[in-house]
Amino acid sequence: FSTGPDQQPGPGQVEPDIKQDYLMEFFIDTADINEIRELAATGLVDGVTTNPSLIAKSGRQFIEVIKEITEVVSGPVSAEVTSLKYEGMVEEGRKLAAIADNIVVKLPLTPDGLKACKTFSDEGISTNVTLCFSSAQALLAAKAGATYISPFIGRLDDLAQDGLLLISDILEIYSAYPDISTKVLVASTRSPLHIVEAAKMGADTATIPPAVLRAMFKHPLTDKGLEAFMADWEKTGQSIL
Ligand code: E4P
Repeated sequence: FSTGPDQQPGPGQVEPDIKQDYLMEFFIDTADINEIRELAATGLVDGVTTNPSLIAKSGRQFIEVIKEITEVVSGPVSAEVTSLKYEGMVEEGRKLAAIADNIVVKLPLTPDGLKACKTFSDEGISTNVTLCFSSAQALLAAKAGATYISPFIGRLDDLAQDGLLLISDILEIYSAYPDISTKVLVASTRSPLHIVEAAKMGADTATIPPAVLRAMFKHPLTDKGLEAFMADWEKTGQSIL
């Protein structure tokens, strides 16, 4: 049977030996609707994350593009508030949450952001606390009831700090308290290796730029092997259909 992170085995079911038997969620980190449509069609995309920079890059109107993304992807779609004050964040977050059921309100890891996170958590609105760069911040986000915490590993690597070490520290802290339901969303990923290493640690979710997701499919031996199989098949003169 398949057990998600929040599910308990039912009557007659046995607790699995391994900690998790569900696979890491893959979100794509873009507001480019064409990329989202193309990658969602693979069936491998569980959700989408956006931020103000990605919205600016899309050249689209924020609310309009977020609505369109929620129509393409049924999983969580993160949309970020831009107010820096609690009241503004709550007002903006409510407006964003009203766009669709699968909206996740993205909030910065600031005192006001975490206060807004607590408010949304109490109201049952999903949240993604962004711009996390330390375990202490991740602890606060869990305390505020965040649905997701987004540690930015690539930006830490850029400063010669180990982004993946932060993921492992947060997972260790969260696993010490089984009642924490906050999911670790590995963000600012830059390479397939980031995703693989985070998966080895059992991170719940990774948000992946489209180019990195495409790179995950690739191996030169796959291309070479397929080319040889097709050449040999052609020689047989057969067809399956
Ligand atoms: C996702 O939620 C973040 O906004 C994103 O991963 C940031 O990535 P970057 O550091 O490549 O801008």
